[in-house]
Amino acid sequence: MNFSTRTSWNLAENDFAKATRMAREAGRGLLDLTASNPTSCGFSLLPGFLDELARSDAATYMPDPFGMLSARAAVAAYYSDLGVNVPYEHIALTTSTSEAYSYLFRLLCNAGDEILVAQTSYPLFDFIANLDDVCLKHYPLHYDPNADEDHSWAIDLDMLVANITSRTRAIVLVHPNNPTGHYVSLKERAALYQLCSAHNLALIVDEVFLDYSLSLPQATFAATESPCLTFVLSGLSKVCALPQMKCSWIVTSGPKEIIREALARLEVIADTFLSMNAPIQHALPGWLAGRRPVQRQIIGRMRDNLATLDARLLDTSAHRLALQGGWTVVLRVPRTINDVPFAEAALANDVLVQPGDFYGLPEGRIVLSLLTPPDLWRRGLTCLPIDGE
Ligand SMILES: Cc1ncc(COP(=O)(O)O)c(C=O)c1O
Repeated sequence: MNFSTRTSWNLAENDFAKATRMAREAGRGLLDLTASNPTSCGFSLLPGFLDELARSDAATYMPDPFGMLSARAAVAAYYSDLGVNVPYEHIALTTSTSEAYSYLFRLLCNAGDEILVAQTSYPLFDFIANLDDVCLKHYPLHYDPNADEDHSWAIDLDMLVANITSRTRAIVLVHPNNPTGHYVSLKERAALYQLCSAHNLALIVDEVFLDYSLSLPQATFAATESPCLTFVLSGLSKVCALPQMKCSWIVTSGPKEIIREALARLEVIADTFLSMNAPIQHALPGWLAGRRPVQRQIIGRMRDNLATLDARLLDTSAHRLALQGGWTVVLRVPRTINDVPFAEAALANDVLVQPGDFYGLPEGRIVLSLLTPPDLWRRGLTCLPIDGE
């Protein structure tokens, strides 16, 4: 059988995945510090949230390429709570952020065109770009351990510019970034708007973790108008901690003429798939309106887990990198313990951590999920091989 070359992935299990699978198969109770599925981390969700799915009007099919008006109005209300007026006509619903990326890559790129993404970010980009025949180019992020928390991470704008070619179509920002947990600063935002306008590029801004700031709320890129064509992506999986409901959205802004054309084309893409189902769209307004209690629980968990982590790291061979928000934390750890890569040494102690290279981080970094239930977090951290040198 001939399969497409775009699916000729190396599907072989790597050493770490194999060791993890074998530990699980052997029945070793792993202390999993990577748990990031909010539906299995012990949060209490909106009472009766499933009742929203049983509405009788959901029995009627009312296809709309961008999603039902009532559902889009609910997303507009979410942005209005963030202080931004977004017309519902500029909002398109999708079943996942990945689907939203894919729509946008197809809207903006011919095969072989380029998209710029940060080096150290969400690994799924590689697959989405690959499936849509788009080339990812990277721009570096720099970490300054001596800067204050809000300025520890910075985009290397010079390198970003150096990587723009005649085939570049868009810059992707993750705000706050996964796994570094830093937001794009206002200064960087101004520079990026200027750059995109000058080079005729679109901005794609993934804000799924926007609401999970550890300090002050941070400004969204969603807007009524923006200096360049801008697409903001977010969705229920993080905003309401409901990944099982499969509902995300794209908010488009930019100069009026460009938006009109972008939305007209995007509408045809969305109409081709019509992927939204009716019950979720009917339920969306109630879920979005009730998001705050679960967001408070999650931010409380993030803060408590960070405090436990900081206490644990005192006088050890590890330290944590500064973060402003998001669900993950990066630790600097020894590269190896007795010649074994750190994550494998942790696994030998029955603790599961994510090796940083999964996100394109250099060696000697691991990534942990701040959603981990507190007791598991404490026990797992205690067993990390970071003491006694
Ligand atoms: C940066 C980022 N964007 C998007 C997603 C996934 O969002 P969705 O569930 O809407 O596809 C994730 C999931 O972890 C993520 O880390």
